[in-house]
Amino acid sequence: MDAAIATALALAVVYPQAGNLAGGGFLVVRTPDGTVQALDFRETAPARASRDMFLGPGGRPLPEASTATALAVATPGSVRGYAEAHRRLGRLPWAKVVAPAERLAREGFVVPAGLSEDLAEERELLTRWEETRRTFFPGGLPLAAGVLFRQPVLAETLARIAKEGPEAFHRGDMAARIVTFVRAHGGVLSEEDLAGYAPLWRAPDTIRFGPLVVHTMPLPSSAGLVLRSVLGQLEVARGAARGLDASSTHLLLEAERRAFGDRNRWLGDGDCSVVPLGELLAPARLAALGASIDAARATPSASVESSLSSPAAEKEETTHLSVATPDGFAVSLTTTLNGSFGNGAIVPGLGVFLNNEMDDFTAAAGVPNLYGLVQGSVNEVRPGARPLSSIAPVIVEEDGKPLLVVGSPGGSTIPTTVLQVLLRATEGESLGSAVAALRLHHQHRPDVVFVEKGGAPEALRGFLRARGHVLEERVPIGQVHAIAFERDGRLTGAGDPRGQGAPAAP
Ligand code: DON
Repeated sequence: MDAAIATALALAVVYPQAGNLAGGGFLVVRTPDGTVQALDFRETAPARASRDMFLGPGGRPLPEASTATALAVATPGSVRGYAEAHRRLGRLPWAKVVAPAERLAREGFVVPAGLSEDLAEERELLTRWEETRRTFFPGGLPLAAGVLFRQPVLAETLARIAKEGPEAFHRGDMAARIVTFVRAHGGVLSEEDLAGYAPLWRAPDTIRFGPLVVHTMPLPSSAGLVLRSVLGQLEVARGAARGLDASSTHLLLEAERRAFGDRNRWLGDGDCSVVPLGELLAPARLAALGASIDAARATPSASVESSLSSPAAEKEETTHLSVATPDGFAVSLTTTLNGSFGNGAIVPGLGVFLNNEMDDFTAAAGVPNLYGLVQGSVNEVRPGARPLSSIAPVIVEEDGKPLLVVGSPGGSTIPTTVLQVLLRATEGESLGSAVAALRLHHQHRPDVVFVEKGGAPEALRGFLRARGHVLEERVPIGQVHAIAFERDGRLTGAGDPRGQGAPAAP
């Protein structure tokens, strides 16, 4: 846990696209005695948030209100979340866990090409905010790859968190600075919101799939429902087949379509609204959904369930890390600001980016969010509620032993990314090839199969088109960092070739 939290904190310094102090996330952890726990440090809606806060005159959605403004900022959960995970399962002193991040901020790091490119890509959003412009666009240009980049203000923030603990961030002058900035720009976050935030330990969602046991996040992440639904349908639809050949890929996409139909319509924060999980996940219902899959034809989403949508935006960033030790300790942790660099604003005097997680709520009925998801009234903004997430940190076991630690960024594509890696890595492929393999995605609406650009062989495209699927290219789908426990007791790590992550061992 020390390694996981130290890494998450370091990512807030070197990967500001997604690593964060003012965001949120989820983690699943397995201790060597076989206990699996889940920590929810998801952001919450501020007390002054309300259902129609993103609507303008005539009930029309205000453009960008839930993504690029101070109203988009939900109450952050990361700092207290990291501290709580460390309090329960860390061994090193807290200050030592924070120290590497502080050092990276103070002494600087060499800007990787990826950061420079992402800054250039988000330039329009980022340069709207003065402090962001000053920090990341010296002389008006995005930080260049290869230069040493120091963040003394962020280093000071981390030094205070190291010394005083998470309260330094959630109360007092730091919290006041965040609130002053957000309020000055029209947001509703208050010091009471920050002081009152609580991460929650939850029972993980535990799913049996053949010989495997899959542990992931329950609500307010949709991971549990999507994984349980898809795997339950596959057991019926796929029979004894294994792996992901073209026929199985079609079945998987169809199961995803059905699972996302349920997700988008019925899910929200189960602590604040009624979610009919029992009905949705009844084994007989999943079997019937699985049996409704036609091996020869795609089922139009309109006949599975009705709603509206338009294509998903392509800009997105979150980050996942997996940590394991040979004795069976494993952490699967995903953290996010939601969009790339959150809402784009750095809080002056603190050096931290703010999240735009409010966009994961149903900001406006019938209007797709950043990930093209059209969601239901169960997921409306309610003060204190957590917005529905797709984040899916996963730990897989077999015969009571850990087998796989996996997770990914990618918004709505997270659970389907994780499913593809899981199916490949546990059904005959090496971890490296399972992570590198082409990915596809279906989310019910829009009624298209997203396929990674340039990656799908013509034979597979033809196979899917012949079944009635409409294919749409997109780059990339997910960015997985995974660890496999091999039979000989060794660990194999895999960084996704789509990103910059890489395995490391002491
Ligand atoms: O919680 C969610 O589902 C989203 N906020 C995750 C965003 C994300 O993965 C962006 N990534 N690439």
